[in-house]
Amino acid sequence: MTIMKSLKMTAAAVALSAGAAQAADVEVLHWWTSGGEAAALNVLKQDLEGQGVGWTDMPVAGGGGEQAMTVLRARVTAGNAPTAVQGLGFDILDWANQGALADLNAVAAQEGWDEVVPDALKAFAKVDGKWVSAPVNVHSTNWVWANKAVLDANGIGVPGTWEEFTAALETLKAAGVTPIAHGGQAWQDATVFDAVAMSVLGPDGYKAAFVDLDEDTLGSDAMKEAFDRMAVIRANVDDNFSGRDWNLATAMVINGEAGFQMMGDWAKGEFLNANKVPGEDFLCFRFPGTQDQVTFNADQFMMFDQGGSVSDEQAKLASAILSPSFQSAFNVVKGSVPARTDVSDADFDACGKQGMKDLAAAAASGNLFGSMAHGHAAPASVKNAVYDVVTAHFNGEYDSETAVQELVDAVSIAK
Ligand code: GAL
Repeated sequence: MTIMKSLKMTAAAVALSAGAAQAADVEVLHWWTSGGEAAALNVLKQDLEGQGVGWTDMPVAGGGGEQAMTVLRARVTAGNAPTAVQGLGFDILDWANQGALADLNAVAAQEGWDEVVPDALKAFAKVDGKWVSAPVNVHSTNWVWANKAVLDANGIGVPGTWEEFTAALETLKAAGVTPIAHGGQAWQDATVFDAVAMSVLGPDGYKAAFVDLDEDTLGSDAMKEAFDRMAVIRANVDDNFSGRDWNLATAMVINGEAGFQMMGDWAKGEFLNANKVPGEDFLCFRFPGTQDQVTFNADQFMMFDQGGSVSDEQAKLASAILSPSFQSAFNVVKGSVPARTDVSDADFDACGKQGMKDLAAAAASGNLFGSMAHGHAAPASVKNAVYDVVTAHFNGEYDSETAVQELVDAVSIAK
């Protein structure tokens, strides 16, 4: 037998077995490619493999998911939708309204989702009474992460106000430490803007601006102050911030190169992945002025309609995602908090416990708002319009006055 013939037979055998395995697999498109994210994702993969469901991974790198959504659109257009896709907020609603998502009501009813998933998540997981996605977690964006040794060495405590925060930045700069680790990508600039805008506008102003898209609030003096504060943050990042991936900025805080990072609590997953301990190696606290609010974004898995009713594998995946044991095991590693309200915080560290406490308190007091930066305040067209203005301002193309006017115009066109 010639070598080529043997190789061809081997290749055919491999393809056949892969094809056979493929039938029982779920193909999952996601953007969880950092160390901490991959560690969390492994919890789900192993959970499913334990149920005999193989996992075909379809990672698309790019924080915040913009690149993943571009690939998804291409896949769906080509008539080749993945089994399941990580999605956020209004993007889920868009796909549901296009009729692209499978009906998960049977598994939701069997598992009692309606009783345990909070309304804030249901708003993005149910359309016309139909469950269209499986909520995985609840992240929030108005966090600050700090290297404890760096703060201690410079006599800096946890800042409770903007003034205390800027004083800490000045102290770090004088000590030759990069005050804020940041990645200059539009979604990261917007993630920082979530917290800064909330700290200036307050909950009513944040809602008016980014949920209600109220022109007066978008064009207000308070919004100008928010952009002024973004300029202060810009003045406290290092010279190489442009284009840096978020997890590399987190690494700067982990290794003491920088004092703070303003980032969603997926950053906590990087600290854990580096074997760091909250309260000993790093601190987590709400951005000053937003201690009573939570700007959230929930990762959900959309089950794309594979032509007919939801497949066994999709139902198993959805059921695994909402199982209480998975909800604890996954979120402990991911840095987020559970998508179910009945999961104990026993296995969560101090930051996780704080996150769960903050979420419950904010939901009870009307201080829980969808993150604008992560697609939970307004549809993608508006989110991207805000991205464009915030990142242009952060990169010095607009002064604050111009940024406010550009924001009013861009949102008016986008909505
Ligand atoms: C968010 C997502 C998180 C994490 C982060 C960084 O949109 O909800 O799970 O992936 O982006 O990429």
